[in-house]
This record gives sequence, structure tokens and C-alpha cells, in this order.
Amino acid sequence: MLQIDLISIFPEYLAPLKLSLLGKAQDKQLLSINIHDLRDQTADVHHSVDDTPYGGGAGMVMSPVAWGDAIDQITKDDEIVDLIILTPAGRKFTQKIALEFSKSKHIIFACGRYEGIDARVGQYYADKANFRVHEISIGDYVLGGGEVAAMVIIEATARLIPGVLGNPDSLKEESHSITGDGEDLLVEYPNYTKPANWRGLEVPQVLLSGNHGEIAKWRKAQAERRTRELGSE
Ligand code: ADE
Repeated sequence: MLQIDLISIFPEYLAPLKLSLLGKAQDKQLLSINIHDLRDQTADVHHSVDDTPYGGGAGMVMSPVAWGDAIDQITKDDEIVDLIILTPAGRKFTQKIALEFSKSKHIIFACGRYEGIDARVGQYYADKANFRVHEISIGDYVLGGGEVAAMVIIEATARLIPGVLGNPDSLKEESHSITGDGEDLLVEYPNYTKPANWRGLEVPQVLLSGNHGEIAKWRKAQAERRTRELGSE
């Protein structure tokens, strides 16, 4: 069972985490997702979550007091916790990192807004023996906050937990799939289903041939072509 806690000032933003594959994984008790309002978790009377930046500059910075209170309330000293701080300044999220996270027991997502979270939050928890702190970005663009980024990471991570996908073979040949001997960096070959002719467009003949060797060869060549084309963009 992977326990996931998300802390946000917009908990309603995270409602889709109950749906589809993630909803089913929670029903099957492979996953538990808990959403916390940062303001409810703060111990200070004003429930203030942000303040002006030291050194000046535009925007507001999220308070380490609020975040520390919130994180402490949902962790125990005797468990290993992966604390993921969403920030465009973080390490770029990949399938490899998703696989790493899928083996965790407890992940906390700190979904910051404004100009981000006071830098000491990451520093403080990184110094604790039972915490692993990850500053993660989902891409080179700036979102309004970490909520959507957290959902992206949860969706990519949860489907790698054994039992979450109905058919585990789905993981084998998809884009970026990671094989036992390392990383297979190819993107997936194109897929087709019925009808064989749609609006004048034919499914490639080889896929109708029933020749599994030829089909495998064609798919590999297509995956290599697509990967090459992406690389030259
Ligand atoms: N918060 C704002 N932009 C982000 C990004 N690209 N990735 C993760 N968290 C973010």
C-alpha cells in the first residue's frame, strides 16, 4: 500500500484523484490518497501561509512555519517519507523517477503557489534521517501551482504499482518503458484498430498479415523512426 498525502491551499483542485484508475486503485487498497488544506494544518492563529520575500522582489513566498506544521502532522518519526516539492526549478520528472516513486511507502506532495515555498523547508527535511526530499519539475514551463504537477506524477507513478493496471502487459511495449536491463528510450510504435479502412486511410498491410515476426520488426522500425524524429525537433 502506497500512502500519498497532498498538501495544498486549493484542495478542491485535486478532486480528480478519485476518478478512473486512481479511484480503482484506492478501492483495491493498493493506494491511499489523502488531501490536506494547508490552512487547516497550520498551528498559528492567523492561518497565514505566505509573506513578502526577504531581499525584496515581486510576489509572496510560502511560510516555512505553515509547511513545517502541516508536514509534521502527517508523518511519524519511524517511517521513511518521500517529500516531493513541486517547483519549476526542480529535477525534470521522467518515467525512471516514476518507477522509483512507485516503490515508496509514503509520499507527501507539497503543492506550492505564489513564488514558491521558503527554501528552508526542503533543507530542514533533507537533514532528517527518515526523509528523502525531491524537488521536481514536470517540464520547462511555469504553472500557477504544484497541484496539476502532483497529479501528473501520481498518475504516472500509480500505474507502475503492481496490481493497479488490469493487464500488466500494457506496461511492456509503451513509450519510455523501462526494461529489466535499464532504460529503453524508444517511444511507442503507432497503434491501429478496426475498421481497416477509415475515411480512405488504410491500416498498414503488415499488421493484417498475421506474421508475428514481420509485425515485431515493423513495430521496432516505427518506434525507432518516431524516436529519431522527436530527437531532431
Ligand atoms: N510549479 C510551477 N510550475 C511547475 C512545474 N513546471 N513543475 C512542477 N511544479 C511547478
